Amino acid sequence: MSVLETLFNSPLGQLVAKQAGLKPPPKLRRGRVLPTGPVVLAELPGADGAARAALGLLDVETADPIADVAENRIADDRGRQVPRPYTTPPGAVVVDATGVRTIAELEGLRQVLRPAVRSLERSGRVIIVATDASAVEGLEAHAVAQGIDGINRTVAKELRAGSTSNLLFLRGDTGADDLVSTMSFLLEGRSAFVSGQTWRVGPAKALHALDDRPFEGRVVVVTGAARGIGTAIAEVFARDGASVVAIDVPAGGDSLAQVANRIGGSALQLDITAADAGERIAAHVARVHGADARIWAIVHNAGITRDKMLANLDEKLWGQVLEVNLAAEIRINDYLLGDVVPGGFGDEARIVGIASTSGVAGNKGQTNYAASKAGVMGYTWELSRQLADRPITAGAVAPGFIETEMTGAIPFVQREIFRRTNSLGQGGRPVDVAETLAYLCSPASGGVDGQVIRVCGQNLVGA
Ligand SMILES: NC(=O)c1ccc[n+]([C@@H]2O[C@H](COP(=O)([O-])OP(=O)(O)OC[C@H]3O[C@@H](n4cnc5c(N)ncnc54)[C@H](O)[C@@H]3O)[C@@H](O)[C@H]2O)c1
Repeated sequence: MSVLETLFNSPLGQLVAKQAGLKPPPKLRRGRVLPTGPVVLAELPGADGAARAALGLLDVETADPIADVAENRIADDRGRQVPRPYTTPPGAVVVDATGVRTIAELEGLRQVLRPAVRSLERSGRVIIVATDASAVEGLEAHAVAQGIDGINRTVAKELRAGSTSNLLFLRGDTGADDLVSTMSFLLEGRSAFVSGQTWRVGPAKALHALDDRPFEGRVVVVTGAARGIGTAIAEVFARDGASVVAIDVPAGGDSLAQVANRIGGSALQLDITAADAGERIAAHVARVHGADARIWAIVHNAGITRDKMLANLDEKLWGQVLEVNLAAEIRINDYLLGDVVPGGFGDEARIVGIASTSGVAGNKGQTNYAASKAGVMGYTWELSRQLADRPITAGAVAPGFIETEMTGAIPFVQREIFRRTNSLGQGGRPVDVAETLAYLCSPASGGVDGQVIRVCGQNLVGA
């Protein structure tokens, strides 16, 4: 339970919240849990059918949409004409808009979304699938693709009760096998704190079927695993079958050992800024898992803040943050991507990092941190491009306000503002970041490459 939920659940908290006119934040559906209501599938004219086929692979039964058209309205209690409501609240509405190319055709989205957003169940889902601008021709079609992005971002802001809206742009020739991992992530509670986001899915360089324990028999390295988000990452990957190598600085040794023991992984005490950090990681993997073992995924989670207004920011604080948050990640990957070494990256490795909404939008007092986190995004995009001819993928998440010791150090009033200023009205949990990273690293997510996904509840900062 987050600090905010604890506060709201205490009698004093409820009294104070009532006086202040604050509503308790909605409880979010989390974990590998599908919505309870039906999944409404709306295929707009020209739809390519990948969404329907992906839902079929998930064994999800679909229901037909109710369209908001003149002949399908009824009078509400006050005599106003409103769209006919759903008899059972939908758990999700999936709109296949891959055929939408004209401004007139955008009306199709309004028609199916209007009745659906009014009746979605709690923690419901809107998932819009559209064709990526790289696969459409003509000025109007490009404008329309971006228009759909505007619809998604706005629907996400209008939804209530923990519901989310996200948009997937499909690159050319993306099939159901490429899409199914993303569809599953979005429908399930694993995507609880991801809303108002848009990302791209393309044909995977190597295909793997979806699995509930996708990392079984695979080695996953997690840096900064002794506490906070890193611990949640280690736990989620272990839940999904991974043999986790948990890394943290020697000072965090005790809690690192506890985490590693709890999840049946191994601990490596290492300052990731050491010049030979990559070599030491590979040597550890080879020692613990055998000389033939390879790293399936590395999660570069370790990070620090050294906040100061630029006017007070000295060379040391500047350098420390860039070194831990960015330079170390690049150095370690460079080593592990080099000539095949025992304990190095496997052929289809997943390389993921952690950016931040501070990197997306900037944040007062965080020039060094914003530089490092925006740097993680730039690095991720270029790394993915440079690895285009290898079945390795690169990705990152950009968390917003997540309840950890790092954010616990923010002064109370500022913290309360950060927590609330997103479309879900609460801070995220470390597990929300972890689930998104696990989705990116899944063998079935080979078509999700070079993407930075914000896990921020549609934080107003940079939204
Ligand atoms: N908490 C948030 O709201 C938030 C938001 C955006 C991004 N992030 C990012 O998420 C990541 C985890 O954040 P957190 O809140 O869990 O932080 P945290 O401070 O609670 O944990 C970070 C961990 O990294 C380890 N670490 C630091 N320097 C290291 C080094 N040189 N070598 C090895 N390990 C090192 C620390 O010992 C610690 O265990 C960071 O990259 C952070 O920038 C957090």
